[in-house]
Amino acid sequence: MKGVILAGGLGTRLYPLTKVTNKHLLPVGKEPMIYNPIKQLTSAGVTDILVVTSKEHMGDIVRLLGSGEDLGCKFTFKVQERPLGIANALSLAEGFAKKEKIIVILGDNIMTHNIRGYVDAFSKQEKGAKLFLKKVGDPERYGVAALDEKNMIVSMEEKPSNPKSDYAIIGLYMYDEKVFDLIKKIEPSHRGQYEITSVNNIYLENGELTYEVIEGEWTDAGTFESLIQANQMLLKIDNKLVEGSGK
Ligand code: G1P
Repeated sequence: MKGVILAGGLGTRLYPLTKVTNKHLLPVGKEPMIYNPIKQLTSAGVTDILVVTSKEHMGDIVRLLGSGEDLGCKFTFKVQERPLGIANALSLAEGFAKKEKIIVILGDNIMTHNIRGYVDAFSKQEKGAKLFLKKVGDPERYGVAALDEKNMIVSMEEKPSNPKSDYAIIGLYMYDEKVFDLIKKIEPSHRGQYEITSVNNIYLENGELTYEVIEGEWTDAGTFESLIQANQMLLKIDNKLVEGSGK
């Protein structure tokens, strides 16, 4: 399996912290933000990693990460020319993935527990996709999954004004090789973005979607409040991932 870290965007919600550098290079605990998703992948044995970022910040990202030798992995880099959404950024990974399954992490999603157990489970999943949910107090900020009485996902919406549940879909996605064909089928949303939720909805319609409620703590780190929360989360564990159970 291969890994993809999406680290594009202009980080406008964190301005002026992001005036001269990329959001994913800001400190979280004792390390740059992007180290957390990298450690997630390497701790799960995924060491062939593509990093997608904007052209404005590619220089800084490469200067920090280099070949990956110091971090126990091998990096490939790709530029997302325009900020057209997560699915658009992910489409750049098609050649890199070479029909293998992929583990995708949004570079500003911070998790305390390692994901090895989930990656192992997905390696045994015959086909389709696997998503991860977390109960939050402000679901309207996220992709939201509605569950039925048997806890099956029945629908998913991107940043709904009237969320159907408190379950945010976090920025950790596992896909089979079909994901790139599905991305080609989706239309941009009303905000002009190729939404990853549209791709996930096709997997749901095809009956090829599994999910887990992620263990440990999770936050995105794209706003001042959530960045502070991410700092506190990782300082508490000295930026070392807690061994996860994968359940
Ligand atoms: C993105 C996704 C959203 C997801 C979130 C997790 O939103 O579109 O579905 O819940 O990441 O951090 P963004 O925060 O990039 O707008």
